Amino acid sequence: MSRLFEPLQIGNLRLDNRIVIAPMCQYSAEDGTAGDWHMIHLGHLALSGAGLLILEATAVSPEGRISPQDLGLYSDANEEALARILTAIGQHSSMPFAVQLAHAGRKGSSRPPWDGGAQIRPDEPTGWKTVAPSAMPHAADEDAPLALDRAGLDRVREDFVKAAKRAARLGLAGIEIHGAHGYLLHQFLSPIANKRDDEYGGSLENRMRFPIEVFDAVRAAFPTEKPVWMRISATDWVPGGWDIDGTIALSKILKERGCAAIHVTTGGVSPQQAIKLGPGYQVPYAQRVKAEVGLPTIAVGLITEPEQAEAIIANEEADAISIARAMLYDPRWPWHAAAKLGAQVKAPKQYWRSQPRELKDLFENMNYGQR
Ligand SMILES: Cc1cc2nc3c(=O)[nH]c(=O)nc-3n(C[C@H](O)[C@H](O)[C@H](O)COP(=O)(O)O)c2cc1C
Repeated sequence: MSRLFEPLQIGNLRLDNRIVIAPMCQYSAEDGTAGDWHMIHLGHLALSGAGLLILEATAVSPEGRISPQDLGLYSDANEEALARILTAIGQHSSMPFAVQLAHAGRKGSSRPPWDGGAQIRPDEPTGWKTVAPSAMPHAADEDAPLALDRAGLDRVREDFVKAAKRAARLGLAGIEIHGAHGYLLHQFLSPIANKRDDEYGGSLENRMRFPIEVFDAVRAAFPTEKPVWMRISATDWVPGGWDIDGTIALSKILKERGCAAIHVTTGGVSPQQAIKLGPGYQVPYAQRVKAEVGLPTIAVGLITEPEQAEAIIANEEADAISIARAMLYDPRWPWHAAAKLGAQVKAPKQYWRSQPRELKDLFENMNYGQR
């Protein structure tokens, strides 16, 4: 019996299996509004048989976008476009969709990766002045952000709340709060980006304060029966940066406050990061969070092979794995994993005839009836 294909509970949300489609920015929205690309992209991933899809980093305000093309959930137009797409997809797929709510902080106002990813200066037509815990740019040659004052912090928290309410209206199955990859909430956590001398900076307790306030506000704004969780970078890969001990401390506090899972990634806060890349390179961090915090833990990062994913679950290194690039490369990754591991996936009836002859039980919902 494959462990990867065992169901998993994240709060009250039941996943058919432990394969999660990681959030992936598409840089294809217009003023935060999803378009036909999202229908195509999300539509084909919804047929993949994964247990859960997490929508790309979805900005809670225009200034919280990474690029001018980021998806957002800050306007009625944003909400209506997503409603159209989710309704259409929901007619053909039972895969749950969660959304990753995000604020880019000082990493906002950037070009999409295919245009080089550099900062767009605030005086350029499509750029804006970014905000952050402290008035320090991500890279030395970039325009410095504005340090958020009390009113700014309240506004950002309220933007998360409003987006969470829109997510609730859209019927999304869960919210992942983006606390990773050097974006705003991670900027508060990391001593590299947070040099504040008020109650939001300095000690670990102070640096965790704003991310926890945002968590509490989102948790309160989203239906209690649906899960809210956080994605955290477990290390900055820079000496003196945010680390795994801070991650565990934060995760324990979040758990007490009703957090349903932790999605464990790394890096993103500093161009000085020295990442040690390799297959499953972030899994040991997930393993520590799982062992020491006891929340459902999602591991991610260069998990590409079914047997590798199976071993991570079977060895209790994580409760679920999430896949980004390998899922784009092979959007039927879960089908192929199920075939290799002797498990089953749900497939759309229009595709049942694709089942290989030798795998006559691959599609668990296949039922042509009698004729
Ligand atoms: C095209 C692309 C877009 C991404 N966008 C996001 C995002 O919106 N939010 C996020 O937290 N991570 C994002 N990531 C990071 C992935 O979620 C994932 O953590 C990373 O790619 C490592 O997993 P992988 O080795 O399976 O690709 C993105 C990655 C890719 C390749």
